[in-house]
Amino acid sequence: MTSIVRDPIEGPLQIGPEGPVDNSTAVHTEHMLAFPAAHYDFWTRELGVARNAWNWAWWGENLTVDGVDEEMLRIGDLVKIGTAEFEVTSPRIPCFKVAWRIGQPDSILLRMMETGRVGFHLAVLKPGLVSLGDAIEVSSPQPENITVADMSRLLLSTSIESVEQLSATLAIPALGKKAAGAVRRRIALIEDRERMRVGRWRGWRRFILANVNDEVEGIRSFHLQPDDDQPLAPPAPGQFLSVKTQREGEPDLVRTWSISDVDLQRRLYRISIKVIEGGAGSRRMHEQLQVGDAIWCRPPAGQFVLNRSGHRRIALFSAGIGVTPMIMMLKGYIERGQGAPPLVWLQVAVNGRAHPFKEEISALLAQLPDVHRIIYYTRPDPADRIGVDYDRSGRPTAEDLREIFGAPYPLNLFGRELPFPGQETEAYVCGPESFQDLVRDSLLAIGVKPADILSEAFVVKRAANEGQAALIEKAAVRFIRSGVTAEWHADDGQTLLDLAEAAGLSPAYACRSGLCQSCECAIMAGAVQYDPQPSVPLESGKVLICCARPATNVIELDV
Ligand code: FES
Repeated sequence: MTSIVRDPIEGPLQIGPEGPVDNSTAVHTEHMLAFPAAHYDFWTRELGVARNAWNWAWWGENLTVDGVDEEMLRIGDLVKIGTAEFEVTSPRIPCFKVAWRIGQPDSILLRMMETGRVGFHLAVLKPGLVSLGDAIEVSSPQPENITVADMSRLLLSTSIESVEQLSATLAIPALGKKAAGAVRRRIALIEDRERMRVGRWRGWRRFILANVNDEVEGIRSFHLQPDDDQPLAPPAPGQFLSVKTQREGEPDLVRTWSISDVDLQRRLYRISIKVIEGGAGSRRMHEQLQVGDAIWCRPPAGQFVLNRSGHRRIALFSAGIGVTPMIMMLKGYIERGQGAPPLVWLQVAVNGRAHPFKEEISALLAQLPDVHRIIYYTRPDPADRIGVDYDRSGRPTAEDLREIFGAPYPLNLFGRELPFPGQETEAYVCGPESFQDLVRDSLLAIGVKPADILSEAFVVKRAANEGQAALIEKAAVRFIRSGVTAEWHADDGQTLLDLAEAAGLSPAYACRSGLCQSCECAIMAGAVQYDPQPSVPLESGKVLICCARPATNVIELDV
């Protein structure tokens, strides 16, 4: 159902706690949409549309308002109309439905956001009656808050300098849930673009093994520094490195290992490896490589990456050496700071002696007073302290997981704590195949969606954390309508939109993060993979190029 097509009404509008009463076709996450009457003049002039072509409510608003607009209103402002009271929560983030409604191409969405003339969302603070001609009273309890129009423009920013300003908006309690998601996506997008810009390389780059240290028996960490003076590419939390080792008289070995830490200042990646019986790659790392030896790496890669913009509970599941990508995810989660959704940390180890990164992880978890920590020791030592070193003995069972994840959990929405269904959880799983199966089956049984359960595929298929990830190294991308073909390289980390722009094309876009659908186009050949996932289901044969990368060696797009 869509809430974009509305007709004006003459009579008073009853506002309930969730928005207009009897407004059966509207599905607003933020109660109400208001649109200034003056924008009708502005947009008809700008777009060359006859002024009488649009009646009030044409832009899908619940309230057409006069005398207030996005330039003057701030997020968190209080608005009284008639007997109802509201709080300004966000600018509208326009989607393709708006473009369709006003008969414009999707490229108008970008222009709308630039002008800030998008409309704004209101959360109901006090239900009441709103009538035509009622005065609008505005008060600004926090006059330092960003205006609605500036917020709209900020959501288009791609500069790294704007991350601080974007992060500051997340601290505004009134900020609407959808807008907060858009802010987080924008921050992730800017940081990802920075990742693509800084320190990336193509193909194999020579590194030096700078240091080695033992974690627990059989697990060792290797610190790798580039053998040049160029910066290091920042990895996304959960990514891996492809590593090539060479020994004279022996075949080169290529393996992928998750990055367990990074120090960008000292230019060090840390990978942590469990020695595997019969595992040539791990044995070479453990037994043959010496500090000072050369090693070759591809840039950080992989789609097993923490979603840094969601609002639902995050659950990080690991067993044994599967904890390595989770350390980076835990750090990525901590970086989100206030306003991050709840976190469950579930880790399985044999006992305190075989508990990898025990001190490091407990120091990280100590920064999160509300984290739900469940550490299982399958065979605890007498010296291991329950409630301190670990929380449960034995292995997790399906019943345990149902009990932990089946119940509703409290989530802060609109500044209010609300119970959220347990199945609304984003799960990341890394460990032996049996562990991954247990977690997946248990979560599916309580209704978690399959797409919300991510596991590190190369760990499933191969022994422990050693194996080969399936990668498309490069692809020929044909932009059919433009008659341009461009070569895409996985090492560059570009989306198809980035690639099109680098090839001199100008496809439509607005949010650049899978929200607005303005970059949607037809795919005639090949397949794509997404990161982040689009926030709306797509028709078959359509793709969002702002968050898609090739999954096949040839792609044809209607661009
Ligand atoms: S630009 Fe918004 S979904 Fe792609």
